[in-house]
Amino acid sequence: MQGIVDWAARMKQMAEFVGLTQTELELIQSTAAVLVPHAEALTAAIYDHFLLFPETRKFFLREDGEVDQDRITRRKHSLKRWLENTIQYQVDGDFPVFLLTAALVHSHPPSHRAHLGSVPSRFMVGTISFVQTAIAQLLFQEMDDPQKAMMASLAWSKLLMVQLDILLAGYVDEVPIQPRSQQEA
Ligand code: HEM
Repeated sequence: MQGIVDWAARMKQMAEFVGLTQTELELIQSTAAVLVPHAEALTAAIYDHFLLFPETRKFFLREDGEVDQDRITRRKHSLKRWLENTIQYQVDGDFPVFLLTAALVHSHPPSHRAHLGSVPSRFMVGTISFVQTAIAQLLFQEMDDPQKAMMASLAWSKLLMVQLDILLAGYVDEVPIQPRSQQEA
């Protein structure tokens, strides 16, 4: 994460790079009425999915190897909050900081879960794919106008990719710019 400090500016730059417009952000916000009633089912589906695979399941087990339901309930709340904050995303809001905090918890395990290591970055990518698919299905299923559902789905995909950049930032080590004199040495 060397040299990158202005997360809001980075997210704004990425939004511009993927062509996420203000009209599309408003379209995403307008999907709240369709998506929020399904938020609990969606987060439950994500956690059911995590529990299917040993490498993701292990983050939600108690010491006796049983699934820790209390932890899952807390995590479902976090994910639901993330979904709601995503729907409300404004280019100039404070969402990037919320997102970065969440991102670092996955890439840099807190001491109580140090023995489990990072959540492998590929599962962050996979979760975004899972969410993208679920949202597209919900929009097509629940919206009367298929053209509008498609536009909303495209806008959601862009926003999720912009987020993925931040979610992965703690894992990615980019090569910093080297002065030419050092390159030649
Ligand atoms: C789109 C991908 C994901 C998002 C947006 C997300 C979101 C969040 C959020 C908002 C929190 C709360 C952070 C805080 O306390 O400030 C959290 C915590 C957590 N997430 Fe995720 N998550 C994602 C993927 C995953 C995956 C793939 C796993 C593992 C299979 C995972 C496991 C955890 C764990 C174990 C915590 C608790 C961290 C701690 O020990 O405090 N998450 N997540």
